[in-house]
Amino acid sequence: MNIQFTVLPGGKLQGLHRVPGDKSISHRAIMLGALADGTTEVTGFLEGEDTLATLAAFQAMGVPIEKLAPGHIIIQGVGLQGLKQPSVPLNLGNSGTSMRLLAGLMAGQAFSVEIVGDASLSKRPMQRVTEPLSQMGAIIETSGTGTSPLKIKGHQSLRGINYVLPVASAQIKSCLLLAGLYAQGVTCVTEPAPTRDHTERMLTGFGYPVEREEAKVCINGGHHLQATAVDVPADISSAAFFMVGASIANQADVILQHVGINPTRTGIIDILRQMGADITLYNSRTVSGEPVADIQVRSANLKGITIPEHLVPLAIDEFPAIFIVAACAQGKTVLTGAKELRVKESDRIQVMADGLQAVGIHSEPLPDGIIIHGGQIRGGEVNSHGDHRIAMAFTMAALRAQEKIVIQDCANVATSFPNFIGLVQAAGLQIEENRLST
Ligand code: S3P
Repeated sequence: MNIQFTVLPGGKLQGLHRVPGDKSISHRAIMLGALADGTTEVTGFLEGEDTLATLAAFQAMGVPIEKLAPGHIIIQGVGLQGLKQPSVPLNLGNSGTSMRLLAGLMAGQAFSVEIVGDASLSKRPMQRVTEPLSQMGAIIETSGTGTSPLKIKGHQSLRGINYVLPVASAQIKSCLLLAGLYAQGVTCVTEPAPTRDHTERMLTGFGYPVEREEAKVCINGGHHLQATAVDVPADISSAAFFMVGASIANQADVILQHVGINPTRTGIIDILRQMGADITLYNSRTVSGEPVADIQVRSANLKGITIPEHLVPLAIDEFPAIFIVAACAQGKTVLTGAKELRVKESDRIQVMADGLQAVGIHSEPLPDGIIIHGGQIRGGEVNSHGDHRIAMAFTMAALRAQEKIVIQDCANVATSFPNFIGLVQAAGLQIEENRLST
């Protein structure tokens, strides 16, 4: 089924909105809740396809998980040694986070397991996790090109390692820390640049000791996770589309409620402000160990910038949306140091460059980034290549287009942002969703 979005030009963006729960935190709440002693209650959980794939994987390994209300789930933890061998391969769909974090957890189990994903996930690099896991003593078979399916052999005794990450990646860091729960001795991971630290924060929240010294984070095997309550904030990566939409639209004014503003995720705010955006944070507070605020964004005059490379890992998922701001800004925007964008749910540099060209914006893709020349978005037809964030970014582009924008292959918006259409309509966009059989 091809889901196609048709977004009419213009429209407005207004009102008070709460976008769905944080994807990264929702994955981790399921994983740690499942492995804890006792009952974990999660509120604000993202019921997107990616996090539901993680949830189903733990149910398949014998963890009772019940939904009480939308976003409200109860996990009966089975303890670190309580998982059971699933009867079929674990299918993680489109979700890189599920696959990479689970690879670490599965490497320490007393049973063998196979993990698989959809066509896009089956092309993404997995050696970045299987290589350090094998240094810890794991035995994992990949395809000849280092991709999934991953066949993880049970009954291996893992030992802690001291690993320096070759790329700034929270997925690799988290994978190794989770494997470290099952390892003899200390597992330490050193990051080349700060990446999202939700795993470390949540481990602490579940009573598991984690030590950090500057760029190095360490965990010792042999402790327990104690069940707790987790209130998941709204996802700043989903809020980003509204922040971008409100920045580029005329007479826009939105307030986004209860958004996670963990400093390892707020690169989008820093980059938009450098481009001239009008963003105000209110009611800053801490919820379940994570900083949260309400965010107001109003229309602004935007200018192109050179994006500081240190902000890249702090805004890694927001670049499709940021490229739309760059397209509407005066002058050119230059991004470098972002070659990771080429191995996300799609090659986000090429797919965005193609989409921008289709709507009349000139850009120059680079091996590790892109140069975007601000101009007038004309409208046209864009292929999102099944990448949720590209589909949502071009939806917002219609706010400044002269003609409608038609976006193909949008079904995966449901991986991270269920009810995207309903929410953007409520905010003032004129969008229609069509289901076409392929
Ligand atoms: C994530 C880490 C990032 C991010 C992904 C979620 C996580 O991936 O792009 O959407 O939850 O740990 P990398 O670790 O590959 O940068």
